[in-house]
Amino acid sequence: MNNMYASLRRFFLLDPDVTFLNHGSFGATPHPVFEKYQEWQRLLEKEPVEFLGRRASEFLAQARQSIAPELGCKPDDFTFVTNATTGMNVVIHSLPLTSDDEVLTTNHEYGAVDKTWQFYSRQKGFKIVRARFSLPIDSQEKWLEELWRHVTPKTRVISLSHITSPTALIFPVEKVTERAKQEGILTIIDGAHAPGQIPLNLEKLDPDFYTGNFHKWVCAPKGAGFLYVRSEYHSMIQPLVVSWGYDNPSSQRSTFLDYTEWWGTRDISAFLSVPEAYHFLKVHHWDEVRQQCHQLLKDTCKELQTYLGAEPVATDPDIWNAQMLSLKIPNLHPKDIPEVSRKLWETYRIEVPLIEWEGSSLIRISLQAYNRWEDIKKLENALQNLLSSSSMQGE
Ligand SMILES: Cc1ncc(COP(=O)(O)O)c(C=O)c1O
Repeated sequence: MNNMYASLRRFFLLDPDVTFLNHGSFGATPHPVFEKYQEWQRLLEKEPVEFLGRRASEFLAQARQSIAPELGCKPDDFTFVTNATTGMNVVIHSLPLTSDDEVLTTNHEYGAVDKTWQFYSRQKGFKIVRARFSLPIDSQEKWLEELWRHVTPKTRVISLSHITSPTALIFPVEKVTERAKQEGILTIIDGAHAPGQIPLNLEKLDPDFYTGNFHKWVCAPKGAGFLYVRSEYHSMIQPLVVSWGYDNPSSQRSTFLDYTEWWGTRDISAFLSVPEAYHFLKVHHWDEVRQQCHQLLKDTCKELQTYLGAEPVATDPDIWNAQMLSLKIPNLHPKDIPEVSRKLWETYRIEVPLIEWEGSSLIRISLQAYNRWEDIKKLENALQNLLSSSSMQGE
């Protein structure tokens, strides 16, 4: 890890005075990718009409062509969106759900996605059913069984994270898509954390809808995400923003691309930089980087279990985690999270999320190429100091 650290840390633009253990929230971009991004922005500014008016569609098509093998799908089966939140909104907005229907999801989903479901549930009257898994999560089979206990004849959609936000778990979504298909249930997978962190082959995984971010673990600039839609559902997608692509009878493309590509004037440079981000990962042997980060993650888990009494939310990091891990901190009361978070940042300059989840306090640690064991020791020492102060003891 230290050799890798020495060679890769220098590419990242992160503040060297900060112990950065939160790649998961917004990612971080290495400078060669950032420079490519700025190159696209300069080209845009040199001749905005040529760039946006005449060539944007061609540039985007080239980028989709280049990225498609990374996602394991056809270039016309996905579109760029600014982020996974937008991808989920496009899909949820488009679904013809009624008050007779149920949407099955879990208690591990991202808050903004939960809110999107709530918004449309209030408009259309469908019911949201939430599976809760008892902790620690152990076998994938039991997980699937627990999820399926909530499937009823009214279940139209299963909506799941591929890697969960508060709990950092890789959900075995491949087991869900297969079974859902047999039972005629649509699957929507929120892969905000998946591309770049775990292998992805959308045609093999075969969800009906899948959204993801490039700006997190592919290390692309902020505002680069995608939405994949299985070809038979392209015509189901409705425009979230109505623009020139609507009602366009001369178009040679699917309405899916027409309704999602042009949303008025916007900077598409982040989308166009994604091929460079994948190139960066390839050139720097990211398979090896991922493995080393995963090993560091396992060492971190043991260390924090031993010295802080922290409890991982799942039993086996080789099954449930890649480069992110959440642990319960039993001696941190959720009401003290804001104070401990503030001190971690202000006193120790450590960037790591503490999360209240289901009445427990979790810490979510993300490891990327620029992290090393020393970062973990700093975190451990800081938490030991902060948690030993009597006001922070749990009840
Ligand atoms: C599981 C999950 N879904 C969706 C999102 C939203 O990502 P974005 O803010 O890029 O839309 C996140 C963000 O961390 C997430 O963890």
